[in-house]
Amino acid sequence: MDRREHLMARAAAGYREAFGAAPARFYAAPGRVNLIGEHVDYNGGLVLPCAIDRETVIALGPAEEGTADACVEAVAIDMAGARGRVDLAGPITPGAQEWENHLRGVIAGLAERGHAVEPARLAIAGDVPMGAGLSSSASLGVALALALSDASGAALAPATWAQIAQGAENDFAGCACGIMDQMASACASAGHALLLDCASLEHRPVPIAPGLAIMVIDTGIRRQLTTSAFNQRRAECEAAAAHYGVALLRDLSPERLVADRGALDEVLFARARHVVHEIARVERAADALAAGKTAVLAEVMAASHWSLSEDFAVSLPAIDALVSLVADVLGDAGGVRLTGAGFGGCLVALVAEEMTSAVRDAISTRYNPGAALPARAEVFAAQAGAGLIRIG
Ligand code: GLA
Repeated sequence: MDRREHLMARAAAGYREAFGAAPARFYAAPGRVNLIGEHVDYNGGLVLPCAIDRETVIALGPAEEGTADACVEAVAIDMAGARGRVDLAGPITPGAQEWENHLRGVIAGLAERGHAVEPARLAIAGDVPMGAGLSSSASLGVALALALSDASGAALAPATWAQIAQGAENDFAGCACGIMDQMASACASAGHALLLDCASLEHRPVPIAPGLAIMVIDTGIRRQLTTSAFNQRRAECEAAAAHYGVALLRDLSPERLVADRGALDEVLFARARHVVHEIARVERAADALAAGKTAVLAEVMAASHWSLSEDFAVSLPAIDALVSLVADVLGDAGGVRLTGAGFGGCLVALVAEEMTSAVRDAISTRYNPGAALPARAEVFAAQAGAGLIRIG
């Protein structure tokens, strides 16, 4: 049984146990790793994520026949089988369970767009690690938007699933995230990264050159207080944009950043400097990714990491140490940086395939022995975005 079949079997078993019936359809939406363009999505910039071969699977079936109340019932298999129930008749508001708020928010988002959700039952199982910066919640939100829209007869574009999932995260789960993670989960193509303009949502697939491996190095440090620190960074970016009189920092050039600094406070200036320079790196990285130019990747990913660490202040000393060690092993044969929101989570490295074992060895012999938490490196494949994966 492969990884996905295993997940489907878990979802089907959870469905049967919770509802005493067999599900009718299976949907999947992947997690993502961002290659470059960090903390720029909510500033309207360019980003370059790819979907990974870790995903959320939803087994879905109709409501029990003869049930009087119109509702969506769900079981979250990975949350110790927690149950959720959303009454479709009443106003939909956030509840106490975080995972269920994604469900509530998605149903509310569909309703807001004029799509009445049909009563349904669903079981959710996933293998995107939680709290690791690989977007387990975006994959949950996109899988829910896809499954519930499809089951209710609404044929929506993948970008609409992404927007509905983002709305749920913003308004029901309390995180002011941008659109990158959900767009990657919904719109990515296999073997490609997704070059996405977060202001217009225009996007195109960028091939990953043969011979390049995507390594994800889990630092073992689980993110804490991420939501509040994340929302604070976003507020700082908005304050900096207001100082410069632009709607989004994306509209600020490197020249104006310096020329019009005026009395802008040190911290806000540093945040803006990260965003403006990070956006400028993304297209260069996309070209290097397609052409397999590892030396360029090494340069732009190092610049991205140190800007995240020094100007955006979302790294940690242990993460900086691990980045330095991997960069040292790679030299010109690839790049490495912190990926995702930060404050823990994962590094991403784009490396010549023949370097993967050297990276693994260096982590286990030079980093892990003195580290508070062991790090672990894995090679991921760039996967296609969300879809219906089986009927019956
Ligand atoms: C989190 C958010 C994204 C994005 C990244 C940082 O993953 O959900 O919208 O802002 O952080 O690039």
